[in-house]
Amino acid sequence: MSSSQENKMKAVILYDSRTKSGSTEAIIDTIGLQLAESGAYVEKVKCKALADYSFIKDFDLVILGAPVYYFLVSSQLLGALNYGNLKKNLKRKKIAMFLTCGSPEAMAAVLYLPQLKIHLVRNKILVEKIFPSNVLSENTFIDSFVLDVLHEYNKTLKSRTGSVKWTVEAQEWLESVPSFLQSKIKTGAEEYASEMGYKEITCEMLEEAKGEFGG
Ligand SMILES: Cc1cc2nc3c(=O)[nH]c(=O)nc-3n(C[C@H](O)[C@H](O)[C@H](O)COP(=O)(O)O)c2cc1C
Repeated sequence: MSSSQENKMKAVILYDSRTKSGSTEAIIDTIGLQLAESGAYVEKVKCKALADYSFIKDFDLVILGAPVYYFLVSSQLLGALNYGNLKKNLKRKKIAMFLTCGSPEAMAAVLYLPQLKIHLVRNKILVEKIFPSNVLSENTFIDSFVLDVLHEYNKTLKSRTGSVKWTVEAQEWLESVPSFLQSKIKTGAEEYASEMGYKEITCEMLEEAKGEFGG
């Protein structure tokens, strides 16, 4: 495999919609096309609540997209987060999300986005967007979503290559653990920070990482 292939971002768009060829699917196809044109490898997968989502481990970025019906984010995506293994497999993944709905953006941000975000408190959410039905025909909204996703994703790569800073408190804590463990913890913490897009390692981040690794 060439190095450009190795560096290619792999994105999966997980979506739901009750309507065949509805607005959500049309948006997804445009997003997928634009990401592919930017050099990414993209797949789209329609959600089923109880499907097996372990394939997500092969992707760098997960885009969640769904419409709102009767005040709820479409049921198969919510079901996959609530009852399936989607949430488990999204752990530590970079995420972008969008909703399509008839409500104004401000209302949707309060009523609908939290229905997804409540499941993603440990994720790095790169971009979140509401696409109100009345703007769906305007491709500029989708263009700006894709540009934001690429920009934010590339930022996480840059912070990965740059050295992650340790706060004084976190450094002191590291020095307080037995010396034979320090190097392992240091590498693990720095990898966790870059995966999550953190620019600084703090005591709070170390606690969070400890919870993630179960140690
Ligand atoms: C049966 C039905 C119920 C809807 N309920 C809501 C709602 O509660 N809140 C909202 O903001 N939009 C609501 N909408 C608008 C849809 O979210 C919006 O039209 C969306 O773009 C539909 O996506 P689709 O074409 O992929 O099905 C509803 C639409 C339909 C058809």
